[in-house]
Amino acid sequence: MGLISVAQLMKKAEAEKYAVGAFNANNMEIIQAIIEAAEEVKSPVILQASQGALKYAGVDFISGMVKIAAEKATVPVALHLDHGNSFEQNMLCIRHGFSSVMFDGSAFSLEENIRLTNKVIEVARAVGVSVEAELGKIGGTEDDISVDEKDARYTLPKEALYFVEKTQIDLLAVAIGTAHGPYKGGSPKLDLNRLTEIKTLLPNTPIVLHGASGVSDESVRECIARGIRKINIDTDLRQAFVWKMREIMDANPKEIDPRKILGPAKEALKAVVKTKMQLFGCAGKA
Ligand code: G3H
Ligand code: 13P
Ligand code: ZN
Repeated sequence: MGLISVAQLMKKAEAEKYAVGAFNANNMEIIQAIIEAAEEVKSPVILQASQGALKYAGVDFISGMVKIAAEKATVPVALHLDHGNSFEQNMLCIRHGFSSVMFDGSAFSLEENIRLTNKVIEVARAVGVSVEAELGKIGGTEDDISVDEKDARYTLPKEALYFVEKTQIDLLAVAIGTAHGPYKGGSPKLDLNRLTEIKTLLPNTPIVLHGASGVSDESVRECIARGIRKINIDTDLRQAFVWKMREIMDANPKEIDPRKILGPAKEALKAVVKTKMQLFGCAGKA
């Protein structure tokens, strides 16, 4: 099978009210682990490349490896640009065969975000690539923010409605209290009422949850019940991968075969992906 767009995956997810996992991929082992996990639990899957991944592996290697893996896969696979930061980068990824892109214009003013998102959509639509946008600011867990600041950063439901009317994006990422990276004080408290308000105004727009590593299973289920259809996971994968590498290297300090370290790390990451797919309800949906 070739790559499928995220918008395509969202049709069944919306109809059957589950979320599709979007997992960050940085190297061959991680790509293989995510796709093998999806095949083992029969789930559609989204692999996404962050700014860091593009810098580390390069757009050609990431897209090349994912395309090879998707070609052989027995489940639908999408390749998505995560937090694309410019029109040019979105175009570069489309040219390299990404089936979905994100234009993260959250650093711009609302009107500039709309203008740039529409530029991306015009090209993406013409070639069947789906587009995710972000409203509100999903920060890092290291940012200590006050309650006032929270209100300023979270997605405003009316603004979300205005944005979708002006852009016709395929997916909308919202800020409701999650952050990127490990949470210091356990699972974050999410503004679920805000999510419901957004979904009520935008019944036909799949909503995306970023920073979902470390969010409790209960909160994740609640988010899905209230309209989240794509869930981004990176940190939980990094931890599983690196902790297993460290465990093996500590136990076998003389080991010099990278395959004996990366192989088990790949399996550890795969196990996390399978657990997430069960939780998100996408297992069995391929
Ligand atoms: O978007 C957030 C991801 O966790 C990406 O981080 O750019 O360090 O790969 P990264
Ligand atoms: P986490 O690293 O917190 O899982 O966030 C991933 C993410 O949102 C990628 O866009
Ligand atoms: Zn994110």
